[in-house]
Amino acid sequence: MEKTVVLIKPDGMKKKIVGKIIDRFEREGLEFIGLKLINLTQEILDTWYVHHKDKPFFQDLSHFMKETPVVAMVLKSENAVNRVRSVIGPTDSQKAPPDSIRGQHGEDVQRNVVHASDAPERAEFEIKLLFKSSEIYG
Ligand code: CDP
Ligand code: MG
Repeated sequence: MEKTVVLIKPDGMKKKIVGKIIDRFEREGLEFIGLKLINLTQEILDTWYVHHKDKPFFQDLSHFMKETPVVAMVLKSENAVNRVRSVIGPTDSQKAPPDSIRGQHGEDVQRNVVHASDAPERAEFEIKLLFKSSEIYG
């Protein structure tokens, strides 16, 4: 069984679609083993997006990710990383299929509603950064 991390970003929080997003993952057969609200600090974001630190959008992205607390969840299933990435759609909401979460609810390449881990090792890294081991149930 594989784990993956999903964040509901501040645009998703403001649109009040947390329930819809959770419902979608449940219907896709994913099991929730961690779930909480968290404020992403600049310190967390510097680590989380270290590979984007020199990109022109990094400062704006950090600002966006601090607009509201975010829902952080850990999902488990066979092939969880790829399954979730396919349910959310590609980074640019404008290019995402209409039945994907980003295609349905996202605005553009930044305000794209959700984050999802892009590899199982990356998921482990993200879990360690955001969750205590006592907060993971599975
Ligand atoms: O989230 P995903 O893995 O699909 O994309 P990424 O390339 O790892 O980028 C991480 C996040 O940075 C995206 O989800 C966007 O919110 C943001 N981003 C941005 O603000 N402007 C870009 N040109 C590209 C990404
Ligand atoms: Mg990524």
